[in-house]
Amino acid sequence: MSRVALVTGGTRGIGAEISRHLKAAGRIVVASYAGNDEAAKAFAEETGILVKKFDAGDFEACKTAVAEIHAEVGPIEILVNNAGITRDGTLAKMTREWWDAVIDTNLGSCFNLCKLTFEDMRAAKFGRIVNIGSINGQAGQYGQVNYAAAKSGIHGFTKALAQEGARFGITVNAIAPGYVDTDMVRAVPPDVLQKIIAKIPMGRLGHADDIARGVAFLTADEGDFITGSTLSINGGQHMY
Ligand code: CAA
Repeated sequence: MSRVALVTGGTRGIGAEISRHLKAAGRIVVASYAGNDEAAKAFAEETGILVKKFDAGDFEACKTAVAEIHAEVGPIEILVNNAGITRDGTLAKMTREWWDAVIDTNLGSCFNLCKLTFEDMRAAKFGRIVNIGSINGQAGQYGQVNYAAAKSGIHGFTKALAQEGARFGITVNAIAPGYVDTDMVRAVPPDVLQKIIAKIPMGRLGHADDIARGVAFLTADEGDFITGSTLSINGGQHMY
C-alpha cells in the first residue's frame, strides 16, 4: 500500500538502502538528511526519492519538516529513526559537546519524530516505527559512552512506546545492527576494526542491505503482532 514513510538519515549508508527497500515495497518515501547536500542530490537523482534537509535532533526543525511532508505527500505512517552520528573517544577525552551531539541526534531524534507523527498514526489506527539501535547499545563499546548510552536508550524507548502504541495498531520495534560496511564504520582505526571483524562469527562486516531487509519486514502491513522487539543483525557477534 502506498503509505508515506520517513527515513531519517535516509540518503546515505544504511539509511539509503532502507529508503530504496521501502520504495521497492511500494511506499512513498521521504529521506531526510542533515548536512551532505551533494550526496542527497545524487541519491535523489538516482532513486527519484524525495529528500528533505533538516536536523532530526532539533525539535522545531522536525516540527516544520513533518508539517511540510504532511502537506506535500500526506501523513507519515511509517517512521524509521535511523539518523545517527559518532563522536568516539574515551571518557577522559570526551567533551560535553560530543556527549550532547550524540544524545541529541541519535536518541533525541527518536523522541522528536515519534512525538510529532504519533497523533496521525493514532488517527489512522496504523503505524510502523522502527528505531535503529546498535550492538554497541546492547553490549557497550570501549570509547563510546555517549553512543552506547544513546543506542541503549533507543532500546528502552522502543519497548515503552510499543506498549503505548499497541491499542492503536502502531507497532514499535528496534533493529540492532552490528558492524556494517559504511562510512561510519570505515572511520574506525583499521587495526581496531580488524580486531572487531575477527570476533564476528560470520567473518565479515554486514551490508546495508542486511539491515534494510529487516526494516522492510518490520514495516510490512501484515506485521501487526510484532512489537517491542529488537532484531539483532550482526553476523553472530553478540547473541542477546
Ligand atoms: N579494550 C580495552 N582497552 C582498550 C580497548 C579496548 N577495546 N581499546 C583501546 N584500549 C586501550 C589501548 O590499548 C590503550 O592502552 P594503553 O594506553 O595502555 O596503550 C588505551 O586504551 C587508549 O587507547 P587509544 O590510544 O587507542 O585511545 P584513543 O583515545 O586514541 O582512541 C578510541 C580510543 C577512539 C575508542 C579508538 O580506539 C576507537 O576508535 N575505537 C573504536 C570504537 C568503535 O568501535 N566505534 C564504533 C564506530 S561504528 C558504530 O558505532 C556503528 C555501530 O553501531 C556498530
